[in-house]
Amino acid sequence: MNETGILSEHETAEILAAAEHYPDKSAASIEALKIVQKHRGWVPDDALKSVAGLLEMSPDELDSVATFYNLIFRKPVGKNVVLCCDSVSCWILGADRIRERLSERLGIGLGETTADGRYTLLPIVCLGACDRAPVLMVGEELWENMDESKIDELLKRHG
Ligand code: FES
Repeated sequence: MNETGILSEHETAEILAAAEHYPDKSAASIEALKIVQKHRGWVPDDALKSVAGLLEMSPDELDSVATFYNLIFRKPVGKNVVLCCDSVSCWILGADRIRERLSERLGIGLGETTADGRYTLLPIVCLGACDRAPVLMVGEELWENMDESKIDELLKRHG
């Protein structure tokens, strides 16, 4: 079987181009997983196996990388993934309260996706912006010094 069969030509070309920059192709693991995620929104098992083939790694090795790097989604997610920092600075400054309000507004708990596929709520460890806690991330965008009044704005912007 062609180990790249599950990947599109675009995905394969982008992954091979990324891997070219490294003497050891496995160094492009995260980049390659991000490429798949960019095209599909998440990284299904079949795609992960194909990427592992391209990078000359075992699927288990690549899966460990994907699991470690928590911005790679291994299950289907909504159009907007709201990552809720649950590390200590954010927790002290009320991250739980923000997350609870978001859950109420969206009708979902952590790890769940709204029925219309618009939002997924996921926990994440420190986003490196502790001085601006509590912090959420949606796509590439950090929402800093979150308070309940900003939730409307967040939902309107990503609605
Ligand atoms: Fe939330 Fe660091 S603890 S950004």
